[in-house]
Amino acid sequence: MAKAKTTAFFCKECGYESSKWMGQCPACKEWNTMVEEPVGKRELPGRIKSVPGGLRSGAKPVKLEEVSLDEQDRITTGYRELDRVLGDGIVAGSLVLVGGDPGIGKSTLLLQVCRNLAGAGHKVLYISGEESLKQIKMRANRIGTVTGELRFLCETNLDLIEEAIRAEQPEIVIVDSIQTMYREDVSSAPGSVSQVRESTGVLMQIAKGLGIAVFIVGHVTKEGVVAGPRVLEHMVDTVLYFEGERSASYRILRGVKNRFGSTNEIGVFEMQEQGLAEVENPSEYLLSGRPEEASGAVVACSMEGTRPILLEVQALVTQTNFGMPRRTAAGTDYNRVNLLMAVLEKRCHYEMSRYDAYVNIAGGLKMNEPALDLAIILALVSSLKDVPVNPRTIIFGEVGLSGEVRAVSQAEQRVSEAVKLGFESCILPQVSLDKMKAGQNGKIALYGVSNVREAINLLDPRRR
Ligand code: TYD
Ligand code: MG
Repeated sequence: MAKAKTTAFFCKECGYESSKWMGQCPACKEWNTMVEEPVGKRELPGRIKSVPGGLRSGAKPVKLEEVSLDEQDRITTGYRELDRVLGDGIVAGSLVLVGGDPGIGKSTLLLQVCRNLAGAGHKVLYISGEESLKQIKMRANRIGTVTGELRFLCETNLDLIEEAIRAEQPEIVIVDSIQTMYREDVSSAPGSVSQVRESTGVLMQIAKGLGIAVFIVGHVTKEGVVAGPRVLEHMVDTVLYFEGERSASYRILRGVKNRFGSTNEIGVFEMQEQGLAEVENPSEYLLSGRPEEASGAVVACSMEGTRPILLEVQALVTQTNFGMPRRTAAGTDYNRVNLLMAVLEKRCHYEMSRYDAYVNIAGGLKMNEPALDLAIILALVSSLKDVPVNPRTIIFGEVGLSGEVRAVSQAEQRVSEAVKLGFESCILPQVSLDKMKAGQNGKIALYGVSNVREAINLLDPRRR
């Protein structure tokens, strides 16, 4: 008889399971992410025994008219920036994953949310597996006074946590972090793929069964054997990632999955002495302190969810010293930048292959909207010719392979954001301009372009 297998290999990035080790994960194509874990007596990871929420066997099919929806199912977090990313507040019985690098501010944000919720009369339980009660108190002292029904529990054993939740019956539970939680009947160590999945399965049952909103903190891990939050993405209702550079003070909360609202919404916060503060007009914030009259810097407009954000695109083009020109893209897609440079080379006859090029979205933001294409192209040309672009101009438009400038969505909203921030002119796709209603025309000069050449000609100061 074949010996039963006692270990298996899991990808700590995406959770792919395999019976043998592999250098590259076949599912997410990451290298060196397979780790060996014991697979003792347990269910298959990620499989929940009975799906809670009334879906157990015996439930009858119903018509949608018979299902009632309560408006008050949504609880506001006290932060508009966070509510919007969640899809207008917290949904009772939902499971929310908050991922991000260690030290980015996940615990701080959630503690502040707990304070707001408790202040508004909700019953909240904050479970920490990472910090002692003293450490939490020190953090709480920094963010201000905490009142109301907010209780703390330092525990990592999920069976005990489940008991505590059933006894306390809170409305909202925070679990900080999922990588520290464990179940005794799973043989692998806390933080392993199977533990993290199994723990999330338990929390899912608690959330759906008791109608409690559960927030799970997940650290994004670069090395080691600790499973990353991506392993859980498919199990939870909502996935939020906290991004930003540690050195910069602002933080962006991005919704990448949401069963209760639109994805790709972002919320902007600033890390201050007293915790995180909301940034309500991010465009103004992101553009503050930018160099005016410098070549290679242009202002672009990207739609993040329902909100237009103005940001600065910078390019530096310099003569190459080696046979192979260097290219880098920070905050945007490297391949896209290469493609745009090829368009410039082929369609506009700039000898880009003789130049190194560095493209950067200022402030450590990550933006991949195709509407940035035209701004990247104009930043490159501006740097190449060393001609500054009018600092009061915003630029957006998608660029195709034959150098044509294609329409982008929600052009009107982008233009009105520019008007709001006092911009004087806007370079946009002609197609989008044609579709726009004549509302903004008086407030801002709109230059429609249908190909890259026309846009580049507009840069020439003598033509403006
Ligand atoms: P933290 O919430 O502990 O990060 P995470 O839970 O994501 O690991 O954030 C800690 C960082 O935030 C730390 O570098 C200190 C900083 N911080 C402030 O700048 N101001 C504050 O009021 C607080 C509470 C933290
Ligand atoms: Mg923390």
